[in-house]
Parts: sequence; C-alpha cells; structure tokens
Amino acid sequence: MLQSPLLNVMIAAARKAARTLKRDFGEVEHLQVSLKGPANFVTAADRRAEEILRAELVKARPSYGFLGEEGGHHEGTDKSNRWVVDPLDGTTNFLHSIPHFAISIALEREGALIAGVIYNPANDELYTAERGKGAFLNDKRLRVAARKLMGEAVIACGLPHQGRGDLALGRKEIAAVQEKVAGLRRFGAASLDLAFVAAGRFDAYWERDLSPWDMAAGIVLLREAGGFVTDLDGGQAMFAKGHIVAGNETMHSQLQAMLKAAGGAVA
Ligand code: IPD
Ligand code: CA
Ligand code: CA
Repeated sequence: MLQSPLLNVMIAAARKAARTLKRDFGEVEHLQVSLKGPANFVTAADRRAEEILRAELVKARPSYGFLGEEGGHHEGTDKSNRWVVDPLDGTTNFLHSIPHFAISIALEREGALIAGVIYNPANDELYTAERGKGAFLNDKRLRVAARKLMGEAVIACGLPHQGRGDLALGRKEIAAVQEKVAGLRRFGAASLDLAFVAAGRFDAYWERDLSPWDMAAGIVLLREAGGFVTDLDGGQAMFAKGHIVAGNETMHSQLQAMLKAAGGAVA
C-alpha cells in the first residue's frame, strides 16, 4: 500500500514512541509484584511517549499546533493544522499488564479531522486512515460490519467507575442495551474501541466522558470504514460534549435511540 507523506509522518512518530512504550510495558510486568506498584512508572512512560511524539511531529511539521493529553495545548504558527494526540490510551490496561492499549494520533485541519493513526505496540496492529482514502489495519482495507440485528450484535462501551462518570446513568444505559444484544464488551481503550468498530469486530460502541484525544483518530477511521459516528444527541459535537456513539448506519441509529430512551442524551 502506498502511503501519503502525511501518514508516513504519523506512522513513523507512532512507531518511534511505541519502541519505548513497549520496553516500559515489559518493565511494568516486573513492577506488579513490588509493593509500591507501577503507577508512577506508568505516568513517566506516558509522558516519555508524548515527548517523543511531539518531537517527531514538530520536526516533520514545525508550524502545526499540538494538543496532547499529557502536555496540553501548544499553538502553532499555522492556525489551521493541529495534531490531537493520546500517547497512551488504555492506561489502566497498561498499568495492569493487559496488552490492550494504543498510541493515537489525529490531524485536524480547519476544524475537520482528516487523518488518524492508532497503533497497539503489544500486538503490532496499526490502524491508519485519511479522509477520502479509506481505512486500513496494516495492509488490509477496513469496512464496518454489515449486521443489522441488535440480537446478533456485539457492542462495546465505556463504564463509569470510582471517581469518574455518572454511575446511575451508566447502569440505566447498560441495562437497556444488555437485554437486547448478543454481547457487551468493555475493553478499556476508546481509540481501539473505535478502531474495532471500523474493523467490523464490534458492531457498535458508545461512551461518555471522553476527551478529544480519545476519539479523534478513531473518528477518521470509522468514517473511512463506512461507519456513522455522532454524539449521543445525533450531532457532530463529540469533542464539545465528550460523548460518542458509532456503528454502521443501522446499528448506530438503533443504539442511539436505545440510549436516549434509557437515560436522556444530554451531557
Ligand atoms: C481512557 C480510555 C478508556 C476510557 C476512558 C479514557 P486513558 O483513556 O480510553 O477506555 O473509558 O474514558 O480516559 O486515560 O487510558 O488515556
Ligand atoms: Ca485516552
Ligand atoms: Ca492517555
């Protein structure tokens, strides 16, 4: 597959950061048994990965802005282009030695998402997408699943937990969805949840309380794989509202309707 110069830049940055992240992941397995645990070490690994990503992306496109989870917002001289980066999505998994986490990089141009790269160093799955050019898992073209029946669908979600999110609302939504589907999953990395919908592994996905860097690259992938993605009210304010629902056209609208009936769509 011939990659564009833009995707090449994003992939090279992801692969470079992945090398340290993978080494650190190996170290985390040793630290599990220590009393202090690996929490501080993981925070440092996260920051290290973001520094590498930022350095690589700035080197390739010095004028672009940068929004990263760990380093905040850096204005570029070019106001129309901005990287949106999560250096480690799935931190809790990483911390617990669960090999399901990813580096997520998106490029936003004039406020529109135009390219996304999501890379899980633990299994070497590289997801790439550019607006108008399709979505890929390594060299394989991606397409959302064609399933139309909720009773056959496997749906991914996020779950509110201690100190985060509206637990009562989360329970209502789960209760409404679980009785209608073939399976519910909570894997713990929003970028990969979206990538899995793009790959047809999950039929749909929803989550609340997300940040732009959790969703940005996955949104590009999803759209390029023929999927539908909106906020829980059916609009395109995913970043502003922090919630998202995604799937093929049928699954997306069915799931959105179910969630609305369950609890109310407003953030
Ligand atoms: C988290 C993951 C998780 C989602 C959380 C996110 P982090 O990102 O994407 O799946 O449920 O809301 O904050 O903290 O691991 O980068
Ligand atoms: Ca994240
Ligand atoms: Ca993160």
